Amino acid sequence: NKSKPLIGKQVVVTAGPTRERIDPVRYVSNFSSGKMGFAMAKAAAELGANVTLVAGPVGLATPPGVTRIDVESAAEMLEAVEKRFSTTDLLIKTAAVADYKPKHPADQKVKKQQGDTSLEMERTTDILATMGAAKTHQIIIGFAAETNDVEAYADAKRQKKNADYIIANDVTQPGVGFGTDTNKVVMFSSEGKVDFPMLAKDQLATELLQHIVKQEGWHS
Ligand code: PMT
Repeated sequence: NKSKPLIGKQVVVTAGPTRERIDPVRYVSNFSSGKMGFAMAKAAAELGANVTLVAGPVGLATPPGVTRIDVESAAEMLEAVEKRFSTTDLLIKTAAVADYKPKHPADQKVKKQQGDTSLEMERTTDILATMGAAKTHQIIIGFAAETNDVEAYADAKRQKKNADYIIANDVTQPGVGFGTDTNKVVMFSSEGKVDFPMLAKDQLATELLQHIVKQEGWHS
């Protein structure tokens, strides 16, 4: 089926930010809106895939035909991805996962004190690297939000995390990355790099998946 080359494929997409709790009323997070990840999920469903969207806290409607699982923290996102990994064909990690979380989250609201304060943070588990190390037949697509030396960092991430593709955006450029309706990316794989023009996130998502379908030989 030419217009639905992902029929029969199980696709898991992660989207949005994660929130790492400091106490019951405060958290550490980032500016991801979920738009790019939701666009990837929508495009995969339109291309015929069975799509599970693991979403951090965002204010977006679930795309038609997509199964959505809401999570809050990096640890919850890891659990949701890990649980489905053995039956996943394509894992798309668009989420902006927190790299650090508060080391001692408080059960009660932390009271204000005199003077300055600081917050001790510890590393979260890298979901992409964990899945990259565990992969058997899965194709893994990571994203990379960079502010400098985009290409060098992105391709290093692909190799280090054992991803098949890394989609890099230079988030210092206007109209690119966090919160925008458009994006401009470079895709890295073992076959080299491909530049995509500035596009609406929905259209870009379709073009990225069509490129991957072709490279993987999934069109029939
Ligand atoms: O949500 P939008 O507002 O539409 O914005 C889109 C976006 C900018 C968030 C998206 O295009 C993007 O670049 N997502 C990845 C952001 C990011 O966290 O990049 P990174 O370079 O820090 O991480 C690299 C990869 O490792 C990502 O696939 C990330 O999901 C993954 N990762 C990172 C940390 C971690 N603990 N676990 C991970 O799996």
